Amino acid sequence: MSRFDELEKRAEDIGNRIIQLIKEGKTILVVGHLDADGITSASIIGKVIQRKKGHYIIRIYGEMSQQVLEELKEGEYDFHIFCELGAGLAKEMENALKDKWIILDHHQIPPEETKMKQVFNAWQFGFDGGREISAAGMAYFIAKKIDEENTDLSWLPVVSMVADRQDQGKRRSVFGLNRKILDDSVNAGLVTVVTDLLLYGRETKPVHEALASTTTPFIPGLSGNRDACLATLSSTGIQLKQNGRWRTLADFSDSEKKKVMESVIPYLSQVETASEAVDSLIGEVYTLEKEDEHSSLRDARELGTLLNACGRMKRTGVGVSICLGDRSQALQEGEKVLSEYRRTLNRLIHTLLEDEGRIVEKPGFNMVVGDGIVDEDMLGSLTSILSGVAWFESKVLLARTTTAGHYKLSLRRPPQSDSSINLSLILQELSSLHGGSGGGHEAAAGGKIPTSQLKAFLRALNKRLQKKDEGKG
Ligand code: C5P
Repeated sequence: MSRFDELEKRAEDIGNRIIQLIKEGKTILVVGHLDADGITSASIIGKVIQRKKGHYIIRIYGEMSQQVLEELKEGEYDFHIFCELGAGLAKEMENALKDKWIILDHHQIPPEETKMKQVFNAWQFGFDGGREISAAGMAYFIAKKIDEENTDLSWLPVVSMVADRQDQGKRRSVFGLNRKILDDSVNAGLVTVVTDLLLYGRETKPVHEALASTTTPFIPGLSGNRDACLATLSSTGIQLKQNGRWRTLADFSDSEKKKVMESVIPYLSQVETASEAVDSLIGEVYTLEKEDEHSSLRDARELGTLLNACGRMKRTGVGVSICLGDRSQALQEGEKVLSEYRRTLNRLIHTLLEDEGRIVEKPGFNMVVGDGIVDEDMLGSLTSILSGVAWFESKVLLARTTTAGHYKLSLRRPPQSDSSINLSLILQELSSLHGGSGGGHEAAAGGKIPTSQLKAFLRALNKRLQKKDEGKG
């Protein structure tokens, strides 16, 4: 049996369990994490239960903790499906919820959880959950086993794979298990794939706004700066307006797109990895064909950001409604939340980068101090963008902010750094040694450390990351 067959067999077993619960009239609590992958994976499971006329409730949480488990223990739900959160807490779940739970996930898990049947995680089957499959992808495998018709939900994991930055193949393509799902989506006529300039909002925004909104890669002088983008693009002589209406990138001819690219290159030349940054501006575009033209839901990357925005700005209900199919009120709300989210991120990035006191260079890593100004739910998104800023390209980036009794931390590994650094494992180990918790992926991890332990934790982390550096080449 191939490892994928094993994965499918487990998906089938879990699917049968869900069907059984529905037949028995049980109420299932679906708990999702608050980012795009958590929202899409919970929505897939919710939709599947809804289609089989079962009872379910979706709730989205920022993190799983002993306290949340205590609350759920007291609750009235017959079964709990955790989507993209709870890794590392399986023992605690067993204590609180007996056998009434499963976790669908793609984060790296501690060895003791790899054998557990109630954990359905890509790593258990030898698949790299950091790069080739999201939690929504794992949920989709279950959905398809429950009913082949659920193939029409395959656009949801396509959104989460790009939102989770798994587009790390050639030309920003997705690969491995993600590619299998993408193929389903393409075959069902839900998604089309073309290679093009990857400006954010390619069908929805005037090109200078699309350029200003592009933060992967972060373009110094242009990202977040609409006026500079308008000035730069105007100087190319491209016609930016037609009949009084701003044109979008999708309206541009190939030669106009080439001019856009040429105007951006000088800004990227200050970046250490300029050629990679330029390359990453061109790649596979995944268009959701069933969405209206000029809607921000058509481009999978844009929808991923919208869902992340809903999660991070505490409007998770809006994100879930969009995933479940609401295209009226929820869509309008979602677009408002997205603009607010982008404004907030822009403001924070500028505040942090302009205040030298908030940037600390340690031998093993760079640290951005968001204490007092960054909401803990925004920290991860902010860190992902900052990790693309030229200043931070040479070392691991750690961003932190204050929360009640703790520091919240986000770590990102720059693409060109030593790939033997596994931030998830390092954070799992060091956070638990210092009374906190943490985990995630090799290149992106997060966690919490008690306030009193911060200094000791940072010392240990610095030592660990320097050691990795010494081992290089
Ligand atoms: O919070 P942040 O975005 O920095 O987290 C990076 C990754 O680590 C995310 O995928 C998040 O779900 C994961 N994570 C985790 N366990 C934690 C904190 C974060 O698996 N305790």
